Amino acid sequence: MSVITTQRIGDILVIVSNNPPVNALGQAVRAGLAEAIAHAAGEAAIKAVIIRCDGRTFFAGADITEFGKPPVGPSLPDLVDAIEQCPKPVIAAIHGTALGGGLEVALGCHYRIAVGSAKLGLPEVKLGLLPGAGGTQRLPRVAGIADALTMIVTGEAVTASKALEIGLLDRVVQTGSLADEALEFAAEVARAAGHPVSSLRTDRIAEAANHPQVFDKFIAENARRLKGFDAPKACIEAVRAAVDLPFEQGIKRERELFMKLVSGTQSRAMRHLFFAERQAGKIDGIPADTPLIPIARVGILGAGTMGGGIAMNFLSAGLPVTLVEREQAALDRGVATIRKNYERTAARGRMTAEQVEAAMALLTPTLAYEDLADCDLVIEAVFELMEIKKDVFRRLDAIVKPGAILASNTSYLDIDEMAAETKRPEAVVGLHFFSPANIMRLLEVVRGARTSPSVLKTVMALAKKIGKIAVVSGVCPGFIGNRMLSPRQREAQKLLLEGASPWEVDAALTEFGFPMGPFQMADLAGLDLGWTAETSSSSTIREVLCERGRRGQKTGSGFYDYDDNRRGSPSPETEAIIAEFAAKSGLPQRKFSGDEIRERLLYPMINEGAKILEEGIAQRASDIDIVWLNGYGWPAFTGGPMFWADTIGLKTVLDGLRRHAEALGPDFTISSLLESRAEAGENFN
Ligand code: 3HC
Ligand code: NAI
Repeated sequence: MSVITTQRIGDILVIVSNNPPVNALGQAVRAGLAEAIAHAAGEAAIKAVIIRCDGRTFFAGADITEFGKPPVGPSLPDLVDAIEQCPKPVIAAIHGTALGGGLEVALGCHYRIAVGSAKLGLPEVKLGLLPGAGGTQRLPRVAGIADALTMIVTGEAVTASKALEIGLLDRVVQTGSLADEALEFAAEVARAAGHPVSSLRTDRIAEAANHPQVFDKFIAENARRLKGFDAPKACIEAVRAAVDLPFEQGIKRERELFMKLVSGTQSRAMRHLFFAERQAGKIDGIPADTPLIPIARVGILGAGTMGGGIAMNFLSAGLPVTLVEREQAALDRGVATIRKNYERTAARGRMTAEQVEAAMALLTPTLAYEDLADCDLVIEAVFELMEIKKDVFRRLDAIVKPGAILASNTSYLDIDEMAAETKRPEAVVGLHFFSPANIMRLLEVVRGARTSPSVLKTVMALAKKIGKIAVVSGVCPGFIGNRMLSPRQREAQKLLLEGASPWEVDAALTEFGFPMGPFQMADLAGLDLGWTAETSSSSTIREVLCERGRRGQKTGSGFYDYDDNRRGSPSPETEAIIAEFAAKSGLPQRKFSGDEIRERLLYPMINEGAKILEEGIAQRASDIDIVWLNGYGWPAFTGGPMFWADTIGLKTVLDGLRRHAEALGPDFTISSLLESRAEAGENFN
């Protein structure tokens, strides 16, 4: 069946697209639309045209899988022009999400109506692109510069009511069917004398032409968001062209900027991440008919840093939570922190007071393990000690109802050892949340040797429900993320002993695009994690810092000195401590360039990633990219560690590791997968 069908209803032509799953504007869709519009233009009896979609959404954009392939006409810009130039009024009738090229098609239409639940946006920037089918020129003319800039540069969609407010929609359909309302609307406008043409409008951009500083102000306000990324800057330049140039020239500028971005590495990287994120949810070897385990109540053990944050995920999604602690004071503290976090969100206007109370009402705090009996899933987040974890699993096994899932939030420990303490190892799984657990989107799902397909499939579905991006990992110390972090931390410490300063090491990574370097991160997390004064023996730089009261940002000093606004500056005291350790190490001291620091920190991570792949700990290289992007701030515009390695060349990485062999030490071994792929000129992805 054709993806585009048409139907004449009186003197109105209704064009319907049906291209599941998201009505992407692939070649067949474009060709069908162009043909239908040409027919409407040439048929005197047709007085108006409606474009709408079947299935779950209006056009969700250009077909991303076509990027990088030879173009086959009609092009999207030509299609949008043809719609706009149609002598009959064309109405876009929108449901679901009108995104990217989909919204550009709608902007080519003379009128736009939508259901109340619709969302409209130009998310191209998230793919390292800009709207390339006239969106940067038509949206400012329709919705004004300020809103267009925000939508195009952030890529965030707006609701139907906001779209109506800014002039992007002509009507929001509150009751009745969209198809019927569109017919009624079309009949109304068919009688009108003239119709608005987006590209001819100047009313909404006139003001910006007189106040060009709106762009500079926007750039200043969004400096952090823009750092390192090419696309947002190009987006701003294109919107500026909408103000400075006539439409035809603005479109030319948009095209030039789009072509440059689409063929660049950043956009390739971000398109890779789009598909990688969707791929991550797919688990190899799980039959499609595997049943899900219903999850109606979640139990959480431990109300500390992680337990409280984990609980919030479920409460926010409307799932009741039983929270168990070993002592009343810790329980009270945990509950108070949850409430404080919700109230802070409410104070920022992102939650109502009623929603805060509704979430808190779903929480049952208790000191009794027995209260976990009727939970469908229990997640333990107690201290990171195997003996305690084992004891917890034995107790849970005895209490929690049969069929329920038992999970651990451990960062490093062996899930299989915990499972072996129970009579239901198939029900045991790792759910490694990241801190702060209510905010960080990553969830490592640790598949034990005996974890059942049902349990895996259930926790993956649950992750989606609470808004997490889940990645499956096999069992090994630190799983995917922390295992790769280890070599980076080790090299960062060694660099200090060889003459590099913490600030140089951090700068090398922030220049690369990380939000912070290892020492800034350590100061933020607190240097005294797992440290006690009683057991401290002045044997590492970190221990000495803690002994001197330099325990990170919270104490006003750590590796760095902090001012009242928590802005860090290099510390002479830290430098003196490092110098003492360096002298004791006997290592020769020298200067390091940013490039050399990056090679020393990042290449060993790639090597560890390759081992993780060859051991089957990660299902695919792109899963590793998703972990590092969402859990550790790896810059999106490089596509993640494994994609980045592909772009710089595996041979470059291998040669770098061999060059640094002496510094990496005798224990460092090169992954055979990295070696073989590099020698064969192959990639990870
Ligand atoms: N092209 C090709 N495939 C697409 C696609 C697109 N634009 N959008 C989604 N898909 C695919 C996904 O890869 C996925 O495939 P899979 O099932 O094989 O994994 C499938 O459609 C379903 O997608 P989701 O799992 O993401 O479904 P959701 O319901 O969660 O979300 C959505 C739907 C909000 C539409 C989301 O898919 C989305 O944000 N899509 C991308 C929108 C976008 O970026 N549009 C701009 C494209 S660039 C452009 O238009 C350039 C133009 O300016 C010239
Ligand atoms: P925490 O020390 O803040 O909280 C642990 C809580 O568990 C305490 O409130 C303690 O009273 C309680 N507890 C201890 N034994 C218990 C028992 N037998 N029964 C009931 N409650 C008990 O520790 P945190 O940081 O929340 O870590 C918990 C787990 O999460 C650890 O396994 C840790 O490795 C893991 N994790 C920690 C991350 C972090 O950044 N803090 C990140 C990811 C995982």
